[in-house]
Amino acid sequence: MSNRPTIEELNRRRAETLQGGGQDRVEAQHKQGRLTARERLDLFLDKGSFRELDAFVKHRTYAFGLENQQIASDSVVTGWGTVDGRLVYVFSQDFTVFGGSLGEVHAEKIIKVMEMALKNGAPVIGLNDSGGARIQEGVVSLGGYADIFLRNTMASGVIPQISAIMGPCAGGAVYSPALTDFIFMVRNSSYMFVTGPEVVKSVTHEEVSFEDLGGASVHASQSGVCHVVADSEADTLFLIRKLLSYLPQNNLEDPPFRPAKDNPLRRDEALDDIVPDDPSKPYDIKEVIRMLVDEGAFFEIHEQFAQNIVVGFARMGGHAVGVIANQPMVLAGVLDIDASEKAARFVRFCDSFNIPLLTLVDVPGFMPGTAQEHSGIIRAGAKLLYAYCEATVPKLTVVTRKAYGGAYDVMSSKHIRGDINLAWPTAEIAVMGPDGAVNIIFRKELAKAKDPDKKKTELVAQYREQFANPYVAAGRGYIDDVIQPRDTRPRLINALEMLTNKRDTNPAKKHGNIPL
Ligand code: HXC
Repeated sequence: MSNRPTIEELNRRRAETLQGGGQDRVEAQHKQGRLTARERLDLFLDKGSFRELDAFVKHRTYAFGLENQQIASDSVVTGWGTVDGRLVYVFSQDFTVFGGSLGEVHAEKIIKVMEMALKNGAPVIGLNDSGGARIQEGVVSLGGYADIFLRNTMASGVIPQISAIMGPCAGGAVYSPALTDFIFMVRNSSYMFVTGPEVVKSVTHEEVSFEDLGGASVHASQSGVCHVVADSEADTLFLIRKLLSYLPQNNLEDPPFRPAKDNPLRRDEALDDIVPDDPSKPYDIKEVIRMLVDEGAFFEIHEQFAQNIVVGFARMGGHAVGVIANQPMVLAGVLDIDASEKAARFVRFCDSFNIPLLTLVDVPGFMPGTAQEHSGIIRAGAKLLYAYCEATVPKLTVVTRKAYGGAYDVMSSKHIRGDINLAWPTAEIAVMGPDGAVNIIFRKELAKAKDPDKKKTELVAQYREQFANPYVAAGRGYIDDVIQPRDTRPRLINALEMLTNKRDTNPAKKHGNIPL
């Protein structure tokens, strides 16, 4: 090491930047079972790849005694590095410095990496751990947030943006993550709320814990704010790395191809028997997904939210695909508000980033009832329709069993630009299920029948034979082919490769008006 005074000065200052809020606060962070901002980056990025920006930045506030607490780097560590050798930009909020709160320079540092990411076309990953707007900096903090929200919005659909919530995130600290593509949370250790338990108590008189108000479980299963929950910080970071492996660097690239170890021609005989003979019996669509995709590997998004639809990433023949599948195991796979919104958002993400869609259909229709109607199933269902209609990526559809009513149209049907639409022989494609249909169209006959139950059984059987099969749709070309289930994987991979150079566009417009 050189002992030139200038270099000593550099080393002294550099060491200072690594202190964060000091030993006591670092220990307090560890005692909470949490890592520091820098430890998280070390775990997340490829070894030795992190290049820091703005380590010497300090805040410029002269109020509330802040002028005596100038900490190099302020409350966020920013820069770039690599994940599996691919460039990513990162920021990691440092709770040991003013509770990770966001003031003027904290915002400037984040904006700098976001703008570099946008210019150079690489994902931004934010590790969030923050008390929100820095109270002592007043409106400047609010301005800082708004500046970030604007960049989040400009970057949306251009580069993937991923947020990890690693501690408490309050106030403005939740809205930047909410504008990003995916939110990961750590079980029992991360929280998101617009206003914390204290404020809630004073305004609504509700007594609620951090966990019950905005913990990972609540956001993963009820609000749908959180896309992926992990058991530890290390797991969270590992899962983000895994998610990135399916994504392109930006909207002008295709997702990375990974040569499959799994034979693209593999035929799984078990698929032939997976759909039960009794159409009211469920089966697990996730089992079907695992049998179809490379090495059975499925990266599920929103696993605990709206479980009647399953979405996530997988590979087929080495190509990344986004899978959307009705889940007969939960509410018979019906489309309700949450399921429609979950799937719509996923479809739009995939379409933004050139990830082909594979849709597996087994859906009895939209959820009936006042609760759903009054809460806006019409609006929510329209979002899913809109998302599928506007999507121009390759769209593959397999109807495994039911495709009834409006839900048939919505789930990537031929009519809304499905590229290859296949059906299993067990498919039932009609305006509604046999039972409901017979009750409506044969009401008078049933009323007059001597034995209404017997008559109904006959009529249901007749309806099923005529309509509840794939051949009426296939006869019109709405279904391109009816296939043996075991052939599904090779047929899909073949179709995906056939569609490699697919080009499709939407009319030029400023932007559409998705029914939000
Ligand atoms: C300045 C803050 C701060 C903030 C925390 N700190 N939040 N400093 N501005 N927003 C400081 C604390 O004063 C404390 O400093 C240190 O960080 C650690 O905080 P603790 O409270 O000791 O930690 P903990 O008990 O773990 O609680 C964490 C917390 C709590 C839940 C995040 O600090 C909290 O409720 N903070 C305020 C959250 C909030 O209401 N933010 C909204 C701001 S308004 P010392 O030196 O005492 O250790 C907002 C609007 C933006 O964000 C709108 C944009 C749309």
